[in-house]
Amino acid sequence: MSLLEVKDLQVRFDTPDGEVTAVNNLNFSLEAGQTLGIVGESGSGKSQTAFSIMGLLAKNGKTYGEALFEGKQVLNLPEKELNKIRAEKISMIFQDPMTSLNPYMKVGKQLMEVLMLHKGMGKEEAYKESIRMLDAVKMPESKKRMDMYPHEFSGGMRQRVMIAMALMCRPKLLIADEPTTALDVTVQAQIMELLNELKRDFNTAIIMITHDLGVVAGICDKVLVMYAGRTMEYGTTNDIFYKPSHPYSIGLLESIPRLDTDDTQALPTIPGNPPNLMSLPVGCPFQERCPHVMDKCRQEAPALDVLADKRQRACFWTPDELIATGGNA
Ligand SMILES: Nc1ncnc2c1ncn2[C@@H]1O[C@H](COP(=O)(O)OP(=O)(O)OP(=O)(O)O)[C@@H](O)[C@H]1O
Ligand SMILES: [Mg+2]
Repeated sequence: MSLLEVKDLQVRFDTPDGEVTAVNNLNFSLEAGQTLGIVGESGSGKSQTAFSIMGLLAKNGKTYGEALFEGKQVLNLPEKELNKIRAEKISMIFQDPMTSLNPYMKVGKQLMEVLMLHKGMGKEEAYKESIRMLDAVKMPESKKRMDMYPHEFSGGMRQRVMIAMALMCRPKLLIADEPTTALDVTVQAQIMELLNELKRDFNTAIIMITHDLGVVAGICDKVLVMYAGRTMEYGTTNDIFYKPSHPYSIGLLESIPRLDTDDTQALPTIPGNPPNLMSLPVGCPFQERCPHVMDKCRQEAPALDVLADKRQRACFWTPDELIATGGNA
């Protein structure tokens, strides 16, 4: 049994202009200690996928399908059960740490409260454990920091506090939604290194949501490439990086900076923008931007096939045909 098994996950929102499907029939799974990267451009449904599992969708959102955590459906659970799972089994790190830190409360007190509330620790034990966690996330002068307010921390340090808080109850699954986007590159690298260590030390499974394929290469075992709420390609990081088989993954990979090529050349980008979910074209959602588009792609959406290497992909071209047409150039 997988730690998390997501089957036919859909997220739909009621809007004044009608219903939009922000996440469409996702299927993926995650084992203990594994890391899954979810990548795709803005609006592709990455955050809503995470929110649906955490039970944090906006009021106008509805979830369909299954997300089995340790074999148990967690979609649409009553708030009370969700709270328990959120505190003890699944935690989330948000893009902006201030959304989950209370600006008026000392950081130490916030950390201790989590432990006292959810782990039933006494004050003294919670104090010691909080310092231990701050040390684990490499917070300098952790004792002194306990006595400070969030605004006295730098962005990178607040992110560390959030990670400490998210890991306090030893969750089996950590969902990190662009945890380093707001940080500079050096701090970004430190946080990634930290997550890698925590994964090793605590055997935490991680869902890493990111725009940055470099992050994926560094930390993820598997990658889910999303576009317009759908899976374009899903497989092991190795397969997706070395043998991408969908025009969108190929485009994303070509647009990351590489150290082994002449960096004076402009990076290729994928021209155009993702489609509006309210007015998706008939057929493949990527058709307008796809260098390999055929008439057929404008008539019907390709089904999500499972290849021999277990990867999922939605494209009418076979991987070999894409390579033959220069898709991998
Ligand atoms: N409450 C809502 N009502 C209607 N549509 C919504 C709502 N929340 C999100 N959406 C839509 O769902 C789609 C997916 O959003 P999501 O936040 O998952 O994108 P994302 O991939 O996380 O993008 P980003 O990289 O910018 O964070 C977007 O088109 C968004 O407009
Ligand atoms: Mg998002």
